[in-house]
Amino acid sequence: MKIAPSVLNAPIEHMNDWMPQIASSYMLHLDIMDGHFVPNLSFGIEVSKAYQRMTELPLDVHLMTTHPLLWIEQFKTLKPQFITIHVESKDVEKSIQMIQSHGIGVGLALKPNTPIEVMIPYIQDVDLILIMTVEPGFGGQSFMHDMLKKVEALQAYKKNHPFVIQVDGGVTDDHIDACKKAGVDVAVVGSYLFKQQDIKAWLKKFQ
Ligand code: DX5
Ligand code: ZN
Repeated sequence: MKIAPSVLNAPIEHMNDWMPQIASSYMLHLDIMDGHFVPNLSFGIEVSKAYQRMTELPLDVHLMTTHPLLWIEQFKTLKPQFITIHVESKDVEKSIQMIQSHGIGVGLALKPNTPIEVMIPYIQDVDLILIMTVEPGFGGQSFMHDMLKKVEALQAYKKNHPFVIQVDGGVTDDHIDACKKAGVDVAVVGSYLFKQQDIKAWLKKFQ
């Protein structure tokens, strides 16, 4: 299983210690919140640039924002591997086109209550589908097992057009096997990873 560490709940004051320990992971997951699409704020472009300066990992930008176009405009400058927008946000089609036009991988995310049917019209244009396994907005919540049914249902669509399936929220040791079985390619792991005594060893075990 590929792991994308989420820095949302990582101890920023100890970044020098943990950043080298996650060097073997797949990409660095950055959660961008606007205080409107979700009832929380995280960090913006300047802090994201600082994270980028500290690592060689590709960036995985998860926009939890009502107006993704504004944020894509800023985040395209980081040349991330993926920019993921929510299907529940505004200007989905335009946002997809804008991400594509900059040669960045297009991600589309679904909140827990959104059925996969809503994103089917866009499926030919996406490189990554993010199935939220918690309500977006906060780290440290409990994994919603039921969401793996969406992952299973998506497998059929992969035959016509390949894309990466990612889960995000509440992932711990207890869920990795079930995620693998359902067909998840990349798991975002936040709070649980940064609680580990030996982050590097944990990543080695699960990747
Ligand atoms: C939640 C974020 C997640 C979060 C994951 O809105 O999208 O990326 O940081 O963190 P954990 O693993 O703590 O749920
Ligand atoms: Zn996220």
